[in-house]
Amino acid sequence: MNYQSVYDLSINNPEAFWGEAAKAIHWYKPPTKILDDSRPPFYRWFADGELNTCYNVLDRHVEDGRGNQLALIYDSPVTDTIKTFTYSQLLDAVAKFAGALRNQGVQKGDRVIIYMPMVPEALMAMFACARIGAIHSVVFGGFAARELATRINDAKPVVIVSASCGIEGKKIVKYKPLLDEAINLSDHKPKKCIILQRPQETATLQPGRDVAWEEAMANAQPVECVPVKATDPLYILYTSGTTGIPKGVVRDNGGHAVAIKWSMKHIYNMQPGEVYWSASDVGWVVGHSYIVYGPLLHGCTTVVYEGKPVGTPDPGAFWRVISQHKVSVLFTAPTAFRAIKKEDPNGEYMKKYDLSHFRTLFLAGERCDPDTLLWAQDKLKVPVIDHWWQTETGWAIAANCLGIENLPIKPGSPTKPVPGYDVRCLDENGQDISSDDIGSIVIKLPMPPGCLPTLWNKDDHYKSSYLSTYSGYYLTGDAGYKDKDGYLWIMSRIDDIINVAGHRLSTGGMEEVLASHPDVAECAVIGAADQLKGEIPLGMVVLKAGVNRPDQEILNELVALVRDKIGPVAAFKVVTIVKRLPKTRSGKILRGTMKKIADGKDYKMPATIDDPTTLEEITEALEKLGYHHTQTS
Ligand code: COA
Ligand code: AMP
Repeated sequence: MNYQSVYDLSINNPEAFWGEAAKAIHWYKPPTKILDDSRPPFYRWFADGELNTCYNVLDRHVEDGRGNQLALIYDSPVTDTIKTFTYSQLLDAVAKFAGALRNQGVQKGDRVIIYMPMVPEALMAMFACARIGAIHSVVFGGFAARELATRINDAKPVVIVSASCGIEGKKIVKYKPLLDEAINLSDHKPKKCIILQRPQETATLQPGRDVAWEEAMANAQPVECVPVKATDPLYILYTSGTTGIPKGVVRDNGGHAVAIKWSMKHIYNMQPGEVYWSASDVGWVVGHSYIVYGPLLHGCTTVVYEGKPVGTPDPGAFWRVISQHKVSVLFTAPTAFRAIKKEDPNGEYMKKYDLSHFRTLFLAGERCDPDTLLWAQDKLKVPVIDHWWQTETGWAIAANCLGIENLPIKPGSPTKPVPGYDVRCLDENGQDISSDDIGSIVIKLPMPPGCLPTLWNKDDHYKSSYLSTYSGYYLTGDAGYKDKDGYLWIMSRIDDIINVAGHRLSTGGMEEVLASHPDVAECAVIGAADQLKGEIPLGMVVLKAGVNRPDQEILNELVALVRDKIGPVAAFKVVTIVKRLPKTRSGKILRGTMKKIADGKDYKMPATIDDPTTLEEITEALEKLGYHHTQTS
């Protein structure tokens, strides 16, 4: 196959292209209408088709003779556990848990929030929802109770599935008190909570509301798959927007199944029966697409890894898992490799393991610095593929599609647009930018199957956030360029989103929290470059006149406040007090210039600055924190 011809077909005749791809999915009612474009800018794929995603990930493989093949390998160095499930065993557990959800009152179309660590039961709960046509919304464990409460209020779940605890390295993180607090904070109350009691921590259950997982299972009968419309939502996944209010990205059943299944072969070059490992978390989109759904839609084995790249127990953790479970493809974030490289710069731990089954490393979640890519390639001696995507799309927008054609790699670029995505780079007037000039990266509508059809219950917000800047285009929020060979270069965000250790966070959300502190008059949070995590949030606050408490006391409170309101995942640890913030004459805080100073980059004095001496003050404050600015022009 040749990349260009496949890509051209996908853009010139998307209906033929995706109509063909849809044949790889089992449909109760095959779609006759491939693309419904009658209501732009809302496009729907496979609108009259009916399917069940759970049937496509489990039942059909058992019926096709894969019943005894491993579907899931749970590898948990933090609990010293390895547990496997064949397709038949996983199907039995899922069908039963689907019955348990029904017993607790969950019906087709109802929402179920899943707030769980990396355990097989998290996947069982997700598949069980899909089986009965309920909509799951998984919330990442590193978020605080308030973030969970926001999602409870928006998704209005009938049931929440959670666990007594997660295990972070050597720490036990109690989930149940966070869940209880979140339910207290939220206006909407779930009818029931199903709690997985883990041996490391027994949670107190609230009589009448909470049911133990074991008990729910013991009283349940297995249930069959329910046909749903292709356009019915499979899940809602909340992601950071430009404010503290997260966006509920909706994923439909039909488009998702077709696109993710197609990607397993054409992007990752996987064959059914092989082992695929995505070292992410079920709480992120990478986890949804490539821990939970992708490998099983394709008849592969997935690895659920409850551990870290380093420290569980050492920087050889990934190589141990690859070798022990004969992993063909690993997908993780560059930050994980930076962590490994820091502790094992010469790759000594790799040499201890037989990596002969390992074919390819895929990286995504943040910009991949060429050093990390080249280090991984040099040490592992396999192709290292950077690919670019986001929660909203659900699968890669740009990649080197190994199942189509292995294109030459340019370190720092995620290669070319994936078939289905018409990616453009526009200037502020909406004109195509010629090579190498940075512009706003957009996708021409309609986007391919699998991408978000809308935001949960917020069609208007979907339009205003993504579709209103350039008519006919989806705004990715990323800035970059397309070079003369058609390679994409994703350089930065155009909004206040930052990427900390592959986790997407909103600095606007952190500013809202800082501003709520009684001593803070105004504040700014920027993403400062960090060698390990890519970026880390850096806060600057101006105190209200008359506050005369010790600075350190206030700073400690600010760090604790962000941790308490957003969660440990925000990694908010650096904050300083400044006299003033640099602003334009119209009062806009010059965050971009402050970021350049923190990153030691050259910057131009903004023509609109109100008072240039504020930048000197900021430079001084940042130097005290160890950020050395070298040059100004
Ligand atoms: N539940 C509860 N707390 C969590 C959590 C979870 N699921 N995940 C992270 N946290 C906590 C951590 O314990 C840490 O808390 P601390 O401040 O008390 O130490 C904090 O959130 C920050 O976590 P993290 O950013 O992961 O930093 P780390 O120092 O623990 O680990 C890396 C650094 C690079 C090893 C780690 O970030 C990593 O493996 N990243 C891979 C990224 C990834 O998988 N991204 C997904 C998209 S592909
Ligand atoms: P998330 O929605 O959490 O997956 O984060 C998506 C954002 O992460 C994108 O919009 C980019 O800003 C960034 N990102 C993800 N993958 C890459 C990549 N390969 N190169 C550059 N940026 C990336």
